[in-house]
This record gives sequence, C-alpha cells and structure tokens, in this order.
Amino acid sequence: MTPDPDPSAAPTPMPGGEPLRRRRVRYSGTHPKRFSEKYKERAPERYADAVAKVIASGKTPAGSHRSIMVAEILETLEPRPGQTVVDCTLGYGGHAREILGRLGEEGRLIGFDCDPVELPKTVERLRQAGWDESRFIPVRSNFAGLAAGLAGLGIHGVDGILADLGVSSMQIDDPTRGFTYKDDGPLDLRMNPLKGLSAAEWLARATPVGLATALRDNADEPMADALAGAVVEAVRKRPVTGTQELARLLHEIYRTRGWTRDKTEGDARIRRFFQALRIEVNDEFGVLEALLRQLPDCLKPGGRVAILTFHSGEDRRVKHAFAEGQRRGIYQVVNDSVRRPGPEELRSNPRSASAKLRWAIRGTGASHSKAG
Ligand SMILES: C[S@@+](CC[C@H](N)C(=O)[O-])C[C@H]1O[C@@H](n2cnc3c(N)ncnc32)[C@H](O)[C@@H]1O
Repeated sequence: MTPDPDPSAAPTPMPGGEPLRRRRVRYSGTHPKRFSEKYKERAPERYADAVAKVIASGKTPAGSHRSIMVAEILETLEPRPGQTVVDCTLGYGGHAREILGRLGEEGRLIGFDCDPVELPKTVERLRQAGWDESRFIPVRSNFAGLAAGLAGLGIHGVDGILADLGVSSMQIDDPTRGFTYKDDGPLDLRMNPLKGLSAAEWLARATPVGLATALRDNADEPMADALAGAVVEAVRKRPVTGTQELARLLHEIYRTRGWTRDKTEGDARIRRFFQALRIEVNDEFGVLEALLRQLPDCLKPGGRVAILTFHSGEDRRVKHAFAEGQRRGIYQVVNDSVRRPGPEELRSNPRSASAKLRWAIRGTGASHSKAG
C-alpha cells in the first residue's frame, strides 16, 4: 500500500535534482472540516500532538477509529497467554492490539474483516507494531463465513470471539465510501465495495414496499410508507447517485410535506434513511444471524463470546440467540443485562453512545444440540 500523500511533507527530489514543490492544503476558517483537509489527523505517527488535541476534544481523528468499551471487553473475554481468539470485525485493529498483548508468544489472533480498502492498512499497522504471521492472521472475509474461514486455517475451536458490529470511523469519514453526506461522494455504503449492489443501485431498483420495509425494520422510521413512496417516485424520474444529492432530495420531501420543523430534526431523519440503506446493502441482519448460528461450533467448551451492538435490530438478535443457546444448554452463562459505556467514555467519545455489550460462555459439556 502506498501511504496517502502528505501535503506538508518535505519536497520530493526529482530525478533531475529539482525538488517537486507540494502546496500546503488550504482551508477556510481555523480548523480543517473536510476529510481531504485533515491530513494531520490522517498521519498520527507524524502529527501526534495534533491528533491528541482532536481526541481530547471528544472527536475521532480522521482516518482512525477509537475502540469502544475496551476494558469491558477484555474483562469479558479474559484473553490469556497461549489462547486463540477471533476478532470478527478487525476494523482499525484497536481491540485486536489489546487482545494480542495478552495472548503471549504462543497465542494467536485471527482477524476477520470484509473491507478490502481498510484491511491492508490495518494489517500493515499491526505488522509494524511487531505482530508477525505466527501471531496475527488476517482473513479478508465476511464473518458470515467464520466457520469455513477457521476450518480453512485448520482451526476447529477457539477460546474467544469478539464482534464489534457496524462500520468503523475510517469508513464513515471517508467520503469516497458514501457513508456520510457531510461531504459529497458516491452513494455506495458497502463495507465491501467489490460485492453486491451499491446503495444507488439498490435504490434505483427498490419498490415502495421494499424501501418502506427497510426503513421500518432497519431504522424504525415512523413515516416509512409515505417516505418510501415519495422517494421511489422521485428516483424513478431521476436516479440519485451522490450522497448529498440524496440528502437534498430527502430534505425537499420532508420540507414540502411539513415532516420536519427544523434542520436538526431533518438531519436525524436523513441519518435514519442512510442507516436503513447501509443495513440493507450490507445485509447486516442476515450476516449477523449467520454468525450467531455458527458461534457455538466455533467456540471451544468454556470459550467466550462478546458482541458490541449499536442499534435495536442488532441487539435484539444477539439477545435472542444467547437466550435460546442458554435454554438449549449450549451456553452455560449469558449476561443478564447489557453493559453500557461508562460516563467517562460517553463524554470523551460520543460515537460510543449507543453501544451495548452482550456476552456468553459456552458450556463445558462435550456436545450440544445445534441451534436451528
Ligand atoms: C466498528 S468497526 C470495528 C473496530 C475495531 N473493533 C477496532 O477496535 O478498531 C467494524 C469493522 O467490522 C467490519 N465488518 C462489519 N461487518 C462485517 C462483516 N459482516 N464481516 C466482516 N467484517 C465486517 C467493518 O468493515 C469494520 O471494519
């Protein structure tokens, strides 16, 4: 991977001896707002002070991700020297680093992620930090293929499994991925842009009923039917391909129908719409259910699983699967109530606000009846 060009870097000498001058990135105001302007945040190894200031202000530096509920997850998974642990959602590698640090020389971490853009960067970071192939094994795959991926590595049971669901800050902040409408970008929203339909393609084919179902199931949108009808009608007349184009269309629909009183309410509705699209194009509920079905067979007896969820549709599925697993005697222990981030984490990282942690421990019995 070639690193992003750093506009403030020393001039690069040309073969003929003349330096190639790079212009400093210019932005209006005192602070960079756009992803492309935040070159300091995207080079933490070079601009540690600038990055520390961003974190102290309660923000996530562009191009990175602040891991959520790290202490609680370590307490739950109890990673120990010599163990094998799977991180199903490697992301920036924040949780993975902490777990790797507890697995000792003989332990190993298998890191799954389906994102072909961010995964190589994370692998490079973890290799640079000293985790070689014998201790950190990356797998570019959807976690719906967890059992097959482990079998392919000759692994038939692990001591711990972590899933930190949803998207990373790197994905959200990068306008070329289409997860945000703060900057303009293609309406994509896929964690793996090499597979499936982009959000623009999905929307172009959506029926009013299909879109209304997605809005209701994925984002609890109260006006799902009317909104879906208006959007499908507009998109059929004129396809929408950009994030800000979609945001403008939604604002216009809300305004003309009197559905929003102010911009804050309108923005919240737009965020819900994007969430519904994201869950749809990534089949987030389908792959979560596939993961939940495979967990018991991937855990050793006594193995632990921890799952961080970020909205009710995810949390409900995890809660149900763990309770059902306990009823069938697969899980020996399941947490009674969800754990939430503490006040300090909520203050310092607002992106942790909706996080809920659930966990379970597989029974030590040799066999179990398979979950349906
Ligand atoms: C919230 S981030 C994880 C952050 C990570 N725990 C850390 O500390 O840096 C979620 C990551 O999981 C990945 N992901 C989400 N769903 C996935 C799936 N079904 N299969 C594989 N990776 C997935 C995303 O691409 C993203 O990189």
